[in-house]
Amino acid sequence: MRLALLGCGTVGGEVVRLLHEQSADLAARIGAPLEIAGIAVRRLGRDRGDLPVDPALFTTDALGLVKRDDVDVVVEVVGGIEPARGWLVEALRAGKSVVTANKALLAEDGGTLHDAAAEGGADLYYEAAVAGAIPLLRPLRESLHGDRITRVTGIVNGTTNFILSAMDATGAGFAEALEEATELGYAEADPTADVEGFDAAAKAAILASLAFHTRVSAADVHREGITEVTAADVASAKAMGCTIKLLCIAARGVDAAGRETVNVRVHPAMIPLTHPLASVGDAFNAVFVEAEAAGQLMFYGRGAGGAPTASAVLGDVVAVARNRLAGVRAASESAYADLPVRPMGEALTRYHVRLDVADRPGVLAAVAGVFARHDVSIATVRQGSADGSPGTTGRGGDAELVIVTHVAPDAALAATVAELRGLDIVRSVTSVLRVEGGF
Ligand code: NDP
Ligand code: HSE
Repeated sequence: MRLALLGCGTVGGEVVRLLHEQSADLAARIGAPLEIAGIAVRRLGRDRGDLPVDPALFTTDALGLVKRDDVDVVVEVVGGIEPARGWLVEALRAGKSVVTANKALLAEDGGTLHDAAAEGGADLYYEAAVAGAIPLLRPLRESLHGDRITRVTGIVNGTTNFILSAMDATGAGFAEALEEATELGYAEADPTADVEGFDAAAKAAILASLAFHTRVSAADVHREGITEVTAADVASAKAMGCTIKLLCIAARGVDAAGRETVNVRVHPAMIPLTHPLASVGDAFNAVFVEAEAAGQLMFYGRGAGGAPTASAVLGDVVAVARNRLAGVRAASESAYADLPVRPMGEALTRYHVRLDVADRPGVLAAVAGVFARHDVSIATVRQGSADGSPGTTGRGGDAELVIVTHVAPDAALAATVAELRGLDIVRSVTSVLRVEGGF
């Protein structure tokens, strides 16, 4: 079984190492030895340390390597949209199996890859693209195919989970926690993809596509990052017995016409400390799946890093290699349901709103009236200091109100907050967070 490796960086280097260290076991599991036919990289002269591989295997001609007749399986760990898409389409159309960790490409244009795989009768596996080492996509695309998934809620970005966990543990602000994440090597030099939620949104699209048998792309995902989360938000969550996580949520729903829909979103949210995702700290990932028959399932582990990600890549390599030897192909993409994606404004969610208001008669009624006008039902109201101590005063003699709503359409909740911000009696809206996980 001859393998073309595209990319030899953080993940690719570990793929090479594991292929070398476990060659006998892998051969036994597959039923044939695995050999590297070539490794495509950008810089031939780059120092690759003590990588156990023949330097003559390196090339900068990725497309030429993909096209070689002696290549059976193409492993892509380069990333980005182009030229990766061109290489993988070429491989799949030629009937070569593809294993990729490229979440950005799958979320942007997974349909093209799936179509090419169908055309060439080839396997397309991408377990490493979401939540690194955690076996998650195989359960969604195989084990749970007898069930009906209703909701997937996940922490799928390690960098932001590290930052939010640090903010929760130390009371640090976002900038300080990001600095720590960068020093420890969790955050990249340009952390935009992580902290602005792009990475999680790509993963959310892939998860939703598999869970709901529907093509969902990154453009369908409502995305908010964690850059606006403040130390005060974290303190406010704590006072409510909650913590803040960057969640990816993919949920089934029904629109006004009674049609089944999906909603896919990534945003920071408060979850109660009793929720299984609340205890997922550091740079770990976890995904909570709810299915009609199976009930609640939780997948937990390392979502990033060279070796954990390479573990998922090699699991896929073994699967596709076995299929080739058996002359079979895994089940193709399942997108038959083709559910419409519901916009964020129609998503049902809950808000936690903290505001400083004038402390005089009628203010509470006026605030409540705003919620009522937007048909948003209030679940709890607390007046006092953010740490929950008794008393009514907030800043400068004003009262502080903390309001948690019942479930309502996101557009109604957002409009409520916008109107509150415009009221004279509202000095400032100091925190607005969505609440998930029920409490
Ligand atoms: P790196 O940046 O560490 O490595 C990228 C590799 O691709 C390098 O070897 C680079 O060559 C090579 N490369 C870049 N451009 C080209 C090109 N035009 N032609 C040939 N080779 C090229 O990335 P990672 O290993 O971190 O990530 C790889 C993929 O895995 C991405 O899709 C990423 O999203 C995904 N992933 C990564 C995770 C992680 O923890 N790192 C976790 C989960 C998924 P050179 O070595 O010469 O620079
Ligand atoms: N940057 C990603 C993270 C890597 O922090 O989780 C894994 O996709």
